[in-house]
Amino acid sequence: MCRADRGVVLGLHRSGPDRDLIERALSLGVCGIDTAYNYRGFTSHRALARVAADLLGEFTISTKVGYFPGDSGGRSVHSLDPARLREAVERSADDLGRSPDVVFLHNPELGLSGRSGKEAHDRLADASAVLASAVAAGSCGTWGIATWDARPVAEAIERSASGIQPGALLLRAGLSVAEPILAAGETLCRVLGVPSECRWGMSPFSGSTADPVWSALDLGAFLAAEAEVSTPQAAFRLAYELPPVTRVAVGTSNAEHLRDLVHAAELAVSEGAIRRYRELIKAA
Ligand SMILES: NC(=O)c1ccc[n+]([C@@H]2O[C@H](COP(=O)([O-])OP(=O)(O)OC[C@H]3O[C@@H](n4cnc5c(N)ncnc54)[C@H](OP(=O)(O)O)[C@@H]3O)[C@@H](O)[C@H]2O)c1
Repeated sequence: MCRADRGVVLGLHRSGPDRDLIERALSLGVCGIDTAYNYRGFTSHRALARVAADLLGEFTISTKVGYFPGDSGGRSVHSLDPARLREAVERSADDLGRSPDVVFLHNPELGLSGRSGKEAHDRLADASAVLASAVAAGSCGTWGIATWDARPVAEAIERSASGIQPGALLLRAGLSVAEPILAAGETLCRVLGVPSECRWGMSPFSGSTADPVWSALDLGAFLAAEAEVSTPQAAFRLAYELPPVTRVAVGTSNAEHLRDLVHAAELAVSEGAIRRYRELIKAA
């Protein structure tokens, strides 16, 4: 499930699973689908199984646990409670109709807020132990950490990472990510010893390409050669470098956009331009 080449992962955060798009994804060589226990009002797993059960074996399926229904149908709540996590992993496999390849702890930084030092470490280690047990029991292929803001997680393992050995990390990626978050993600990868091929990125457009900022950008200087590509294509390719990751989970409900992204993943980038960009945002 970890691969060294640049994989495109179809993320289901913003759109429900669509049979035509999933078939198109397969034909384009997209072999990852990323979902979560809580997506689409806690229905994403069942919807995926309903529309594409026969195709799911062709994909690496990653999902996430950590958000749970709120009281009386209210806003979902984040929790690292071991019992809730355990139940969510079991339920995910049941609802998907197969064991997911990866189960990520979903934004564990939210479950660490207000805690520091040993308390934060132990809370993360307890949650990690649940997912490690799920791997040992065959409920998922491996487990990982998906984090929108890696700083609290990096702080929790600052003194010791014992008991926390994820097989994969899913980090916020791309031009919209602030340097402290990029740096914290890279620290996490290093301290947890997650190999480069098991580092994944997500949300390359920070959720939308509709912001006029994207259309005002000219990213040509980041590409190694002059190429006729759109700004979303260039931005998507850069997400594999900021921070360095081998797969990027991206949301789209448009098959042509997906095709553009698959082509963009193969673009050559200017390492010098990326290095200067990192120096610039670090100094800022
Ligand atoms: N904390 C977490 O664990 C976490 C948080 C966020 C995201 N994620 C994962 O990352 C995935 C992607 O994140 P996201 O959906 O929030 O944001 P995103 O991928 O940054 O942005 C999605 C938006 O980009 C547009 N887009 C995609 N390709 C395009 C193209 N070639 N040209 C123009 N527009 C394009 C899509 O519109 P169209 O539909 O029109 O293409 C959609 O509105 C999620 O589905 C999820 O799997 C995880």
